Parts: sequence; structure tokens; C-alpha cells
Amino acid sequence: MIKVFIILQVLLSLVQSAAAEGYAPTTVGCPTTNLLRSSALGLSPEEKSWVSKRDQITRPHLLQFLQTRANLDDDEYFALLNDSNNMKIGLAFSGGGFRAMLAGAGHLSALDGRTNGANEIGLGGLLESSTYISGLSGGNWLVGSLAMNNWTSVQSIIDNEYPIWNLAKPFFEAGGNAYEGVITFLNWMKDIVLKKHAGFTVNFLDVWGRALCDVLFPADNGFGVGVTWSSLQGSAVFTSGNMPFPISVADAVINGRELTPQDSTVIEINPFEFGSWDSSEKAFTKTKYLGIEVENGQPINANACVVGYDNAGFIMGSSSNIFYNLLPTMKDGQLLADGLEVLGDMTYKYLGESRENETYQAIYQPNPFSKNEYSSLDYGIAASDALGLTDGGNDAQEIPFAPLLEPERNIDVVFAFDSSDNTEDKWPNGKSLVASYERQFSSIGSGAAFPYVPTTEVIVEEKLNKKPVFFGCDALNLTSLANVPPLVVYIANRQYSFASNTSTMKASYSDSDKLGMIQNGFETATRNNMTDDSHWATCVGCAVIRRSQERMNKTQSDVCSKCFEEYCWSDKSSLNASSTPVSLGYGNVTTH
Ligand SMILES: *[C@@H]1O[C@H](CO)[C@@H](O)[C@H](O)[C@H]1NC(C)=O
Ligand SMILES: *[C@@H]1O[C@H](CO)[C@@H](O)[C@H](O)[C@H]1NC(C)=O
Ligand SMILES: *[C@@H]1O[C@H](CO)[C@@H](O)[C@H](O)[C@H]1NC(C)=O
Ligand SMILES: *[C@@H]1O[C@H](CO)[C@@H](O)[C@H](O)[C@H]1NC(C)=O
Ligand SMILES: *[C@@H]1O[C@H](CO)[C@@H](O)[C@H](O)[C@H]1NC(C)=O
Ligand SMILES: *[C@@H]1O[C@H](CO)[C@@H](O)[C@H](O)[C@H]1NC(C)=O
Ligand SMILES: *[C@@H]1O[C@H](CO)[C@@H](O)[C@H](O)[C@H]1NC(C)=O
Ligand SMILES: *[C@@H]1O[C@H](CO)[C@@H](O)[C@H](O)[C@H]1NC(C)=O
Ligand SMILES: *[C@@H]1O[C@H](CO)[C@@H](O)[C@H](O)[C@H]1NC(C)=O
Repeated sequence: MIKVFIILQVLLSLVQSAAAEGYAPTTVGCPTTNLLRSSALGLSPEEKSWVSKRDQITRPHLLQFLQTRANLDDDEYFALLNDSNNMKIGLAFSGGGFRAMLAGAGHLSALDGRTNGANEIGLGGLLESSTYISGLSGGNWLVGSLAMNNWTSVQSIIDNEYPIWNLAKPFFEAGGNAYEGVITFLNWMKDIVLKKHAGFTVNFLDVWGRALCDVLFPADNGFGVGVTWSSLQGSAVFTSGNMPFPISVADAVINGRELTPQDSTVIEINPFEFGSWDSSEKAFTKTKYLGIEVENGQPINANACVVGYDNAGFIMGSSSNIFYNLLPTMKDGQLLADGLEVLGDMTYKYLGESRENETYQAIYQPNPFSKNEYSSLDYGIAASDALGLTDGGNDAQEIPFAPLLEPERNIDVVFAFDSSDNTEDKWPNGKSLVASYERQFSSIGSGAAFPYVPTTEVIVEEKLNKKPVFFGCDALNLTSLANVPPLVVYIANRQYSFASNTSTMKASYSDSDKLGMIQNGFETATRNNMTDDSHWATCVGCAVIRRSQERMNKTQSDVCSKCFEEYCWSDKSSLNASSTPVSLGYGNVTTH
């Protein structure tokens, strides 16, 4: 790495700030509509109309899934699915670095009819039947890279038909030798310097985002340099409703404040809007027009409107700076720690800035919510010129439930894929379930009801992290919550054919390990290709139709009752058992 430094010194003097098209925001005429939706009442008109389009696609797919994969009796669901009544499925993919991206890829592929075997021994068609998909940190690398790459399939990636997810070399080392590493670095920096020259604050998170894109985008479109999160608005696969609605989740950071589920503001970034449903904010701005200085949603300078701030790599980096948070606690000599440390030094040297007051947040400046009379100032969201975002898992909610709990979205069932590393040997223990459960009783998270869950000790003891579990099976038992939450199907990373409890810090995977992770994920989501339980697809169908049945007062069939006996967590004595504060373990997330 020392060598890298020396070569850098030489190259720095040679490189012109030659233009890389696309990373820096570009000036446009200002939009005529207000950029801010305050109070966040209801869905945006854009989302509403998109969802009605998606409904037309999910309905026939779900009918087919219930009929041919779940093998449910027609009587059970037929009356529940028609033009005026549709079920809504949400999928949530947790953080956990490349472990979460790859295990999540396996889980997702099991629901995707395009995956080999998914229609025979998997849950093929469920992805096509889903309305929403949220991702956080490593889970968001999965969701974001599929969404931003024309909703390509995991199958096409593992078949090398779509050239992304090359993890053979640590991605920050690029070609694997120092010279190529420096060239790659300089390519990132050229992009980032252009953003700086355009008048925007940049920091290491911009580099992090660009670095991730070397893995998440193909080379032949410049590693996504010009791809924005809002560009989906012009992408046929999205506008026609042929993919679920992707939502990236991060946390807002207020300097010096340690994040807990009870006081974090969860930011969601969807193709139309950027903002939060939380009581600390209750406001959304337009994703496409980030980077504009506004007062109450009106541009202050009518000649200074921009587009392109919402670079997809920057958005995915914002949701996933956990590596950086963990840097100070990592042991010297760990490849990733060393690599990032050197990258950080190179970055600030190149920018001609000191690292002294470096923050480990993604900086969104101007802050779209400042100078907004409606935003609550209590949590400081609107107080500062810059809005800092950090890893969505830093408040212990490592599964991005929040957007899917919003009552306005009317989601019936959430499939939650947990690939976090809560236990010493790096398996999930349901900590994120507990965090989301507890959050509903805080003022900031009220309005996002979540079913009762046991403590992490019980989850481990009863091996609820070794087999899928349903939470919130009976709406009637949930009436003391703010509203009836979706039924939650919890599926935790576990080992079948591959030891998928790899370190969050692991930055490279051989091709065979990568495929091993993905296949193990497929097996986890399918209960080992339906061999652990040949009725698993049926039980999934029963979970999907449950809320609809309850709304219509329809009784469950015997088949579904049996499934619920098998998969529902119901232990009255454990209600409210999890009132102990969640230990975060990440310390002070805002400073080095
Ligand atoms: C659609 O389904 C709902 C719920 O089952 C039912 O009340 C309604 O009558 C159905 N409408 C049609 C047109 O079948
Ligand atoms: C499960 O099915 C997948 C896809 O067909 C296959 O690759 C894998 O080997 C199977 N796993 C087991 C344990 O049979
Ligand atoms: C996106 O994928 C669809 C379906 O596979 C394909 O027809 C289309 O050409 C692709 N679009 C782009 C821009 O690659
Ligand atoms: C985080 O670090 C900053 C700067 O060192 C300090 O001012 C602040 O009190 C710390 N916050 C917590 C919660 O430890
Ligand atoms: C870092 O912050 C301190 C305290 O605000 C300030 O005095 C110092 O000038 C800053 N350093 C740089 C390089 O900006
Ligand atoms: C993975 O889990 C196994 C079994 O629990 C354990 O022996 C192993 O140490 C774990 N691996 C890591 C990297 O923690
Ligand atoms: C379901 O049953 C409850 C209680 O019996 C009744 O109040 C409600 O109107 C019924 N709903 C429907 C849609 O039939
Ligand atoms: C709901 O409450 C009933 C009655 O107390 C109980 O029998 C049932 O097990 C509960 N269901 C769940 C999922 O907790
Ligand atoms: C559970 O906790 C909530 C909020 O603290 C409280 O309102 C409710 O009464 C408690 N329920 C039980 C069964 O203890």
C-alpha cells in the first residue's frame, strides 16, 4: 500500500481533471411544482399511480403462485383477488456487507420465476407478485444493483450474462496491483472533483459510492457514473410496473447523537421521493431534485437548480457506510481496514483537504429540509445546512422494515430476510425484529405498528433463526397496537450447503464461494428445496392471503391452520418481554 502512495504522488501531477460525464450534478431549469411534501400525508401521487399499474401485474402472478406453487384451494383466495381488492407484498433485505448481498441474492432468487428451479422447488413467482422491495446497506447493494440494471435477474448474473458482482479481488484494490489500483482511484476522483467544482461538498462517502459501483454496475456503462436513483422514472421496466418499487433506507445523523431505534430518523429514498415518515420529519422532497437550495420547498435561486445529485452509487454508499464506522475497531492488518485507511488518506490529499474534522456520513448539502417551517426541529433534521446520512443499520434496525410498515402503503405481508451478524459466530439473532418492535412505542416511530416478537434470547433458544417464523398471525391479537401491522415472515441466514456466516468485512469472494453463498440462500428461502417441509410453498401462500382473509372474515382452511400451527410464533407470556434496550455495539457513529 505504501507503493500505491508513491505512484499516486507521481500520477497526481500528470492527471488533468478530464471530464467524466455524469457524476457531477448539472444545471437545469427549476421545476414549477413545490419540491417539498410536508406532513407526509399519504403516498405521493406518482407512487399511487405507479402502484395501481403494478397491481395489474402482481395480481395475475399472485393468482398463479397461489394456484400452482402454493396449491391452495381456489375457494380460499379467488374472491380475495380482483380489480377492487389486491394483496400487497413487501420484501426487506437486511444489511451485512457482501454476506448480506450474496445471501440475499439467494433468497431473492428463490422467489424469482426466472431462476432455475424456482418454479419447481422454490417460491418462483412471489417476486413478480411483490409490490415493494426495501434494502439497507449490503441488502441495498442487492436491491439497488438489480433495480438500476434493468431489473436483471440473479440467474443472469450467476450465468455471467450480466457482468456485475465480480468480487474476485477486493473491490477497493481494483485490478489487484498497485498501478491499476491508482488508475481506478484516479478515475473515481475525477468524477468526484467535478462534483466539488460544481460547488458541492464531497467527502469519502462519494469515493465509497464510486468504489462500490465497480462491483454493482457493468464497466460498459462507466460503472454507473451517470445513473441516478430517480432515473428509474425513465426506465421502461419500472414505468410499466414490471419490477417492485425499490426503497433504499438510511438513517439521518445528528452530530454527537448516538443512534437508537427510539430516536433515529429513518430516511427512505425511492425513485420519486427522499424523506421520512417519522414524526421528527414527516416530509419528503423529490429525489430527482436533491442538491437544490430551497425554502419551504421553493428553489431560492431560480437559476441554480440541478439534477444528478441522486447518483445511485452515492445513494447506495449513504445506506452502507458501516465499514467506515467499524474502521476504528478493526484490527491493524485486516485488508479491508488497511485499504480503506489508505483510500481515505488518498482522497483527502487529492481534494487538498485535511482529515482532521472528517465525518463518516454522506453529506446531502444543501439540506432539502432546512428552512422548512413544517419540519420538526427537535431532532435537528432541519436545523443544519447539511443533512448527514449514515448506515441504515446503525440504529439496530438492520432489516429495513420502516417503509413497509407505513399504513398508507397497506402492505399485507412482509418477507424479512435477515443476514446480519448478531451472534459471536456471525448468525442473526433477531435483534432487528426487537428494535423495530420497540420503536413503535417511541414518539418518533409511532404509527409504524410491528407485531409482538420475543427477545433475542428466546429467538436463539427456540431456534427461530434456523427456520422461517411468522409474526403477527392473528390481527385480532394486535388490536392494542396503533394499527394492524403486516404479517411478518422472518427468514434468517442459516447454513445448508455453504457456511454463509462470513464476515461483514470480507471484501472479496472467489466465484465458487459467491455461488455457494447464493445457492445456500436459495436453500434457506425454500427450506432446503422443499425437502425440510414439502408444504412450505403452501404455507407461504397462507401467510400472503391472511390479512385479506381477516378483512373479509373468512376462516382459514385446515391446510392453512396447520401451517400456522407450524410457523406462527405465539406465546402470550412473551408479550412485551423485549423491553430491554437494544445494545448497539457500534459506539459513536458520527466521528472517527
Ligand atoms: C372483490 O373482492 C372483494 C373482497 O373479497 C369483494 O368484496 C368484492 O365483491 C369483489 N369484487 C368483485 C367485482 O368480484
Ligand atoms: C437446491 O436446488 C438448487 C437449484 O436447483 C440446486 O442448485 C441445489 O443443488 C439444490 N440443493 C440441494 C441441497 O439439493
Ligand atoms: C431490459 O430488459 C428487457 C427484458 O429483458 C429487454 O427487453 C430490454 O431491451 C432491456 N433494456 C435495456 C435498456 O437494456
Ligand atoms: C461522539 O463524539 C463527539 C466528538 O468526539 C462527542 O462530542 C460526542 O459527545 C460523542 N457522542 C457520544 C454519544 O458519545
Ligand atoms: C476542525 O475543527 C476545529 C474545531 O471546530 C477547528 O478549529 C479547525 O480549524 C478545524 N480544522 C480544519 C482543518 O478545518
Ligand atoms: C460460522 O458458524 C460456525 C458454526 O456456528 C462457526 O463454527 C464458525 O466459527 C462461524 N464462522 C465465523 C466466520 O464466525
Ligand atoms: C366481519 O365480522 C365482524 C364481526 O362479526 C363484523 O363487524 C364485520 O362487519 C365483518 N366484516 C365483513 C367485511 O363482513
Ligand atoms: C391469538 O389469541 C388467541 C386467544 O388468546 C390465541 O389462542 C392465539 O394463539 C393467539 N395467536 C397468536 C398468533 O398469538
Ligand atoms: C406492552 O407495552 C405497551 C407499551 O409499553 C403497553 O401499552 C401494553 O399495555 C403492554 N402490554 C402488555 C401485555 O404488557
